[in-house]
Amino acid sequence: MLSVDPKQAPIKDIHGYLLGGAAPRPIALVSTVSSSGARNLAPFSFFNAFSANPPLVVFSPSRRLRDSTVKDTYTNLLETKECVIQAVTYDMSQQVNLASAEYDSEVDEFVKSGLTPIESEVVKPPRVKESPYQMECKLERMISLGTGGAAGNLALCEVLRFHIDENMFDKGVMQPDRLDLVARMSGAFYCRASGAAVFRIPRPGKSPMGFDGLPECIKSSPTLTGNDLAQLAGEESVPNLADACAAVEAVPQPSGASEESFYRFLDNLDYKQALGTARALDGQNHSDITRLYELAAHCALESAGDTEFAWNVALYARRASL
Ligand SMILES: Cc1cc2nc3c(=O)[nH]c(=O)nc-3n(C[C@H](O)[C@H](O)[C@H](O)COP(=O)(O)O)c2cc1C
Repeated sequence: MLSVDPKQAPIKDIHGYLLGGAAPRPIALVSTVSSSGARNLAPFSFFNAFSANPPLVVFSPSRRLRDSTVKDTYTNLLETKECVIQAVTYDMSQQVNLASAEYDSEVDEFVKSGLTPIESEVVKPPRVKESPYQMECKLERMISLGTGGAAGNLALCEVLRFHIDENMFDKGVMQPDRLDLVARMSGAFYCRASGAAVFRIPRPGKSPMGFDGLPECIKSSPTLTGNDLAQLAGEESVPNLADACAAVEAVPQPSGASEESFYRFLDNLDYKQALGTARALDGQNHSDITRLYELAAHCALESAGDTEFAWNVALYARRASL
């Protein structure tokens, strides 16, 4: 491991480490106006939400590394105490990048980026029409973290109005695939929070057994991963062995079972047929049968979060040691 004492490292490197590990970061596209009424628009990925009551978000318009000067967003916020923060979608990402160039203070980044200003309801800075998620905010507090290059300034903002495209919701939950937000990572890397990048993890039940509740032979499996074991350990208790064996033995065995057909079922995420095939191979005294059973359990967890199936198969695979 690379171990770094930030007091001994160049600030540029520290910035890079933060960007790489505190990632992916949501991007706040912030519009402000100066005291003379000049519009400004810039993205900030040192950004997150920290309170729902009151609704507070924080982003950091930092001092420039090269000369410690402050950014227009920072100056405008201190002058007028208002901003609008919008979420950034994939379709806007190149225009947002264009807005991030170091234009002179009087330059309007709405004009430069081609993004469309629309009037806000309760603050002066305009909203960005292209974003499906906009927050009108007032500056609650600016916390300056230093005066050197790359020092952060925490703009603590209270949300006065949310504007969210209703089409983004399904049953009250905002849908990642509809929002299609982007996030910032290290260097010039971004990620797109939709499609295959999105997955679900239901919260654990009230009293999960935890890793210490897992049978030792399952916990030490070379096939089941940390993610697999955590899903098994999320259940309240180890299922009954006899019931698990009965459930596995009830699975039909396809004819013509072979190791090749087992892996074909796994590739197709058909873990039930894979189990039936493993059972048939078990009958033929396959030399590595425990691994095949555990691969079927792994597939059930990884592809469908099917803990009931996985527990049954994991117990069956290790029944001789239980
Ligand atoms: C995706 C993205 C994220 C950024 N995040 C930050 C950030 O968190 N803090 C910061 O000071 N600058 C950040 N920048 C750079 C600013 O957008 C850039 O310095 C901009 O010119 C500031 O504009 P302003 O002077 O009009 O406020 C980011 C740039 C991009 C493209």
